Amino acid sequence: MTEKDFIPSNPKVLIATGKVAYKSPSNIALVKYWGKREGQIPANPSISFTLSACATTTKIQFKKLDGPSPGFAFDFLFEGSPKPSFRPKIETFFKRISSYCPFLKEYHFTIETSNSFPHSSGIASSASGMSALALCLMEIERMLYPGMDDDFFIKKASFLARLGSGSACRSLEGPLVTWGVHEEILDSTDLYGIPYKEEVHPIFKNYHDTILLVDKGQKQVSSTVGHDLVKGHPFAEQRFQQAHRNLGRLKPILKSGSLEEFIQVVESEALTLHAIMMTGDPYFVLMKPNTLEIINRIWAFREESGSHVCFTLDAGANVHVLYPETEKEKVNQFIVNELVAYCENQQYICDRIGQGAVKLN
Ligand code: PMV
Repeated sequence: MTEKDFIPSNPKVLIATGKVAYKSPSNIALVKYWGKREGQIPANPSISFTLSACATTTKIQFKKLDGPSPGFAFDFLFEGSPKPSFRPKIETFFKRISSYCPFLKEYHFTIETSNSFPHSSGIASSASGMSALALCLMEIERMLYPGMDDDFFIKKASFLARLGSGSACRSLEGPLVTWGVHEEILDSTDLYGIPYKEEVHPIFKNYHDTILLVDKGQKQVSSTVGHDLVKGHPFAEQRFQQAHRNLGRLKPILKSGSLEEFIQVVESEALTLHAIMMTGDPYFVLMKPNTLEIINRIWAFREESGSHVCFTLDAGANVHVLYPETEKEKVNQFIVNELVAYCENQQYICDRIGQGAVKLN
């Protein structure tokens, strides 16, 4: 498929008004996307676990305008109240996708959105937020162009989500999603995320992710700044090749269930993301002292207990603690006894691998 396939060409039916709603989760990358080319094209392929508990619910009511509007007509409510600071993000998103969704200029939208996780948790809501919004828009498009098949629906929804926030294109389905061309992954594309179709060992099917909220403040460095920094980075090319290799390495690991090897790839990817930020121009340290404390405690616990608990990181100080269902009791105990003390206000979120977005009535 190419971008052009997402521009509607068939005639649409006339719908005066309606409403749609979706709940879409966040995701956590195992092989990280960090660095992009013009048009939200990833510099390297990535793969993520779709999450379950951390999610955004978005409802849209739409009403036909008397004539096409010069700009975009919408109201935006976050957790029940108008949120003017979010409007520019949505404007930019609508601008980016308007050639693929020409109906955007013909309707007024009331967009209401809320997150399952606290706003000030340091958890980026862009993946869940943009995927929920893209799915709602596609649901409207499906009403306007009846007969759209499910395959096209989900691909275009992921394609639109990607234009909102790259990693959002990996949140629509589950439990594992890849995005970006990789020579060993059939049908992989830079345009949208696809569910990982290779064999996956049952150990990965109900993996846990406990998110330790080390720093609940606003992200110190936005993704935009981070991706930009990769552009002129002296290690960029090496990093992109490494991501290709790591994704290739993960394939047999996901099949065999070899947790020792899984840990090596996943932790190395997390530290590489941070290393790129530390060695950029400008340079940033995104970890906090407590992030490192937690990492060291995880390593010590693994050493002494033989557990397969490991960590990964986003572009921030919070730590995602990953472990299989079979180790749930012992790792939960460890988290409560040893790690929670390093979280801001002792806060953490118990999440696990999920199946993707759901349509709401
Ligand atoms: O989707 P963006 O542009 O906010 O990029 C986020 C990238 C990371 O979360 C740091 C890694 C990833 O692959 O999700």
